[in-house]
Amino acid sequence: MSTATKLDPAAAQRAANRKSAKAGRTVIFRVKRCEGPGKPSRWEEFKVPVPPGANVISCLQHIAANPVTTQGARTTPVVWDSGCLEEVCGACTMVINGRVRQSCSALIDDYAPQEGDVMVLEPMSKFPVVRDLWVDRSRLFHNLQRVKAWVPIDGTYDLGSGPIESPASQGTRYKLSECMSCGCCLEACPQFNLEEDKAAWDTSFIGAHAISQARLFNEHATGAILKDERLDALMGQGGINDCGNAQNCVKVCPKHIPLTESIAAMGRAVTIHGIKKFFRGE
Ligand code: SF4
Ligand code: SF4
Ligand code: FES
Repeated sequence: MSTATKLDPAAAQRAANRKSAKAGRTVIFRVKRCEGPGKPSRWEEFKVPVPPGANVISCLQHIAANPVTTQGARTTPVVWDSGCLEEVCGACTMVINGRVRQSCSALIDDYAPQEGDVMVLEPMSKFPVVRDLWVDRSRLFHNLQRVKAWVPIDGTYDLGSGPIESPASQGTRYKLSECMSCGCCLEACPQFNLEEDKAAWDTSFIGAHAISQARLFNEHATGAILKDERLDALMGQGGINDCGNAQNCVKVCPKHIPLTESIAAMGRAVTIHGIKKFFRGE
């Protein structure tokens, strides 16, 4: 048993399920459907024969090819979003059996090993539904803009060598850079709620992903040019002070990004920034 499985009882259960998975079984997919923004939602069930190694997306493809419910009614194909199919783009994120994660890497053997087992698929609840399991994550990207989560270099001309970065700093930033903007940390966060009014996006809680990305770019020698602007954004309404420290975010991050460490680091940086501004009379 790996260390990760020893520490996480759910991972241990999934590993046990995988070992006991029955070949040639049929699994019931219970899917939360919605025709479009603002439309009511409903549940539909589909029987899917599961080949070995199937994941949620391959089963959704089976349903799309044969959109008939367990009651025998013909319906529309279920809609979902995806891109890389290898847990890199974050587009396929949804709530699977009550826990947010990427559907492309969710193996059916881990969740539904026996004949007739049920998989429950829902869209994330903190983003507006476009259709069925596909949500609009624009606000997630908007919040990255709020903290200017980029290195401000543009153009194709030769700027010469960049500043020298230490291996230790590179190591810290490499882990933070693995964020794929999936939205799991926002779905799990009690402080981040569905906000369809775009006018309120700049004052509602920014989220753990943006706080961590602000740290990533503030710790980059060139990215630090915008350090004060990022800290100003985190000091404002909906910034880091709105984090309730529930730590749900770090538990669901598929890339194991040290989000609570980033929140603590940026909390300290914001406090020092605030004191400096006070003494400068700003
Ligand atoms: S620590 Fe809690 S409140 Fe803060 S971002 Fe994470 S889940 Fe949200
Ligand atoms: S911090 Fe983790 S959970 Fe949040 S968006 Fe990035 S990869 Fe996803
Ligand atoms: S399709 Fe890219 S993470 Fe799943």
